[in-house]
Amino acid sequence: MKLCMVGTGYVGLVSGACFAETGQDVICADVNEAKIASLEEGRIPIFEPGLEDIVARCADGGRLRFTTDVAAAIGESTAVFVAVGTPPRGDGGADLSAVDAVAQAVAEHAKREVVLVLKSTVPVGTNARVRRLVKDAKHTVHVVSNPEFLKEGDAVSDFLRPDRVVIGCDEDDDFAREVMSRLYHPVCLDRDRIVWMDPASAELTKYVSNTMLAMRISFMNEIAMLCERVGADVHAVRAGVGSDDRIGPKFLYAGPGYGGSCFPKDVKALVHTGRENGMELELASTTDRVNERQKGVCFRKLRQHFDDDLRGKRVAIWGVSFKPRTDDIRESSALTLIDALLADGAQVFAHDPEASEHAVALYGDRITMVDDAYDAAKDADALCLMTEWRQYQNPSFERLKELMSRPLLIDGRNIWSSYGLRALGFTYDGIGVKGS
Ligand SMILES: NC(=O)c1ccc[n+]([C@@H]2O[C@H](COP(=O)([O-])OP(=O)(O)OC[C@H]3O[C@@H](n4cnc5c(N)ncnc54)[C@H](O)[C@@H]3O)[C@@H](O)[C@H]2O)c1
Repeated sequence: MKLCMVGTGYVGLVSGACFAETGQDVICADVNEAKIASLEEGRIPIFEPGLEDIVARCADGGRLRFTTDVAAAIGESTAVFVAVGTPPRGDGGADLSAVDAVAQAVAEHAKREVVLVLKSTVPVGTNARVRRLVKDAKHTVHVVSNPEFLKEGDAVSDFLRPDRVVIGCDEDDDFAREVMSRLYHPVCLDRDRIVWMDPASAELTKYVSNTMLAMRISFMNEIAMLCERVGADVHAVRAGVGSDDRIGPKFLYAGPGYGGSCFPKDVKALVHTGRENGMELELASTTDRVNERQKGVCFRKLRQHFDDDLRGKRVAIWGVSFKPRTDDIRESSALTLIDALLADGAQVFAHDPEASEHAVALYGDRITMVDDAYDAAKDADALCLMTEWRQYQNPSFERLKELMSRPLLIDGRNIWSSYGLRALGFTYDGIGVKGS
């Protein structure tokens, strides 16, 4: 059996490479010629820990290939995974044009009975709609929903050791069940991780998972703001609350709002689905609103420290990616901060270990990206920590003190709160933490 992965981005490349790692014959197809050319030359277009080795090994072994010829790749495959982007439309709904294009290509170019697997995050009802698009195909097309839960930064281990594999498939579709069981068998050797369900439930599961996680973050961000008003410390509150087994410690960290290519768009899309079905999903829409407000928190703090006048101020930013261990800057809170600073006439000097290229592509010479984190802080009026990359977690504050023209630290990730920075002469401002 051959597998084709259509869409070779963060999800498609990781999934395709990991299936190939288990011995599966995989062809990754994408319409982006530059991306495929770079992969064919052995260059990985994204930063994702561990991925490069797997891609190199599988490509050398001949079981991972790349192509821009989507039709031919579909023609030789029995399983066609759809991992194309589903970006937000203006009204919050998901843009499904790329998914539809692949479905139509499958209807047209499949040369045998085939399983069409929707791995992209798509609104409930998409599986049913795609079935209508492929119903007149020459060969039977089985449409399955298999949303992806990998996290950028840990994507390889998440794919090879998933908490669960959600598969939405008709109960009596033995062909699709056999293909999917076989493909995921290698990640289920210690225990069966597949959660079978109907397609609509699988589609909804993805949005509900992301919205639930986003909701925890937004709730703690609101609580952090309350902590600042009442003199409490959100670190302590988190530790107290998170040690309740029913709640657990994860996703309770206050910060500058969630970003990335998934949470913001998926929360909005769930709200949109609710509205399309005559329901206002109040918790989801508030989660989104709270996050939009929170993304401006570091900028508001900076303005307060400079009496609302940031003109000509030199601001250093550490971290542009939306989280550590990825070069992905989509919807990153650092971008919200940079945009606001530029609009207010400030100068921005930024550093990121992996996302520099994307930041330069976006801002050109409107900001200065530097190769050494300390160079960003030189003569700075403030330093904002926006992404908790490990290398920023325990820097030399003595060196920073010497370099900066004003020792103001805005700690968007609450990493530095216990370091006694006030005693060192810094003004320290975190998100709902007292600091020391
Ligand atoms: N990035 C994540 O962490 C993550 C996690 C889980 C789910 N998802 C979901 O997976 C999907 C893909 O996300 P991503 O981050 O990998 O996106 P991405 O933008 O990195 O990659 C999408 C790829 O699809 C390609 N493409 C677009 N139209 C195409 C077409 N018609 N034929 C072939 N290729 C085409 C693009 O060129 C691009 O390379 C989205 O629905 C997303 O919500 C993403």
